[in-house]
Amino acid sequence: MKPPRKLHIKSYGCQMNVYDAQRMVDTLAGEGFVETESADDADLVILNTCHIREKASEKVYSELGRLRVAKDEAARNGREMRIAVAGCVAQAEGEEIIRRAPTVDVVVGPQSYHHLPQLLARAKSEGRALETEFPVEDKFSFLPQPKPAAIRARGISAFVTVQEGCDKFCTFCVVPYTRGAEVSRPVAKIVDDVKRLADNGVREITLIGQNVNAYHGEGPDGRTWPLGKLLHRLAEIEGIARLRYSTSHPRDVEDSLIAAHRDLAGLMPFVHLPVQSGSDRILAAMNRKHTADDYRRVIDRFRTARQDIAFSSDFIVGFPGETEGEFAATLALVMQIGYAAAYSFKYSPRPGTPAADMRETVSAAEMDERLVRLQELIDSQQSAFNRAMIGNTVDVLFERAARNPGQIVGRTAYLQPAHVFASPDIIGQVLPVRIESRERYSLLGELASAPPQAGQSTPSTMMTGA
Ligand code: 5AD
Ligand code: SF4
Repeated sequence: MKPPRKLHIKSYGCQMNVYDAQRMVDTLAGEGFVETESADDADLVILNTCHIREKASEKVYSELGRLRVAKDEAARNGREMRIAVAGCVAQAEGEEIIRRAPTVDVVVGPQSYHHLPQLLARAKSEGRALETEFPVEDKFSFLPQPKPAAIRARGISAFVTVQEGCDKFCTFCVVPYTRGAEVSRPVAKIVDDVKRLADNGVREITLIGQNVNAYHGEGPDGRTWPLGKLLHRLAEIEGIARLRYSTSHPRDVEDSLIAAHRDLAGLMPFVHLPVQSGSDRILAAMNRKHTADDYRRVIDRFRTARQDIAFSSDFIVGFPGETEGEFAATLALVMQIGYAAAYSFKYSPRPGTPAADMRETVSAAEMDERLVRLQELIDSQQSAFNRAMIGNTVDVLFERAARNPGQIVGRTAYLQPAHVFASPDIIGQVLPVRIESRERYSLLGELASAPPQAGQSTPSTMMTGA
């Protein structure tokens, strides 16, 4: 029997890439590849890239520089190392990558991962680098059946793609170009995936999509189901204690999604809802198609449905033409909403997007200064949110042994890591924890009650139906 070949995948960017990496592992397992931790001893290294901002994109080329050295070293030792570039940079730059980095053997975009084995074989037999030339087809036709063993290794919390692509065309964003138009998977396939994951010990599912709440998949009744209805269905699956979804667009928040937050205790009260800016003029220039007040109203609808709900968001500072007053409107919005967490970025022009042609740029110094001010505000909100947990008893889903011996780590509803001293038996359970203190990024606490015996469920592990 041939020894297994070693595969190393390095993913950048969003959760979709993390999920896609697993799909590539599953596809290549059929070719005798097993995953390895280190790129240096791999037979195949895949860089699963991100094109969202210039910095993310440029990382690929510096990493390829390092890999060239490792590849040469492997060749000197009589070993072949092959290098593939996948993800959104592959989709956007294609052949340009092979031109800039001749060390690359294969370039493959997100819509073609199921062709990876053939592409690798062809590149080898033809003795030249290849870029995928397969047409974009049914994006989800290739989903390999996850292998139970692979799923088990994924632990307590898993991602499931329900939707891919984006039709929104925000003027700064490459996603509609790299990931294509919105496509939703049928409900039955998602239910099957979630059941299989639950059978393998997964307790938490995060539904992912570039525009997840634009989900409109075919239901078993032949009708189109929105995300809220899908969540109601998934909440019925035994073993699944928690549901989440990401990333949402403020324009696509339907009443059924609000109803899901009202009705489903297992749907976590933590929503990532990017707004990008608090200025209506900038929002219009970004083609967001909502105003700051529209966003405030969406937040209010969520809060009315579930009082303990918290939000995170994304912001861009220094969009072309952004004045100090317009930036102040962003600060005002952040003050008013109060976030549990948020990501903020300096605007980065992306080739091919409409904003890249806008001439009124904001100086680098101004951008830096605005980013610092925004991040300080967000940090203070995040700290206050975490501090408010101290003294409370909150449900934690335990995921794994922590680095500190004797400690087990899990997550609260708001994704805060929470550590307790306990036996590893609690992994996979949702248990109440009294929070005693916090460190910069995590909470420390004590189990509030003795863990239940195996096979017994507590009220906090059960989902309430509609
Ligand atoms: N420049 C800066 N930030 C960007 N984002 C997307 N495109 C750009 C860009 N060109 C940010 C947005 C988005 C997040 C994933 O990345 O805030 O929500
Ligand atoms: Fe990009 Fe806008 Fe689509 Fe989000 S909604 S992926 S920012 S185009």
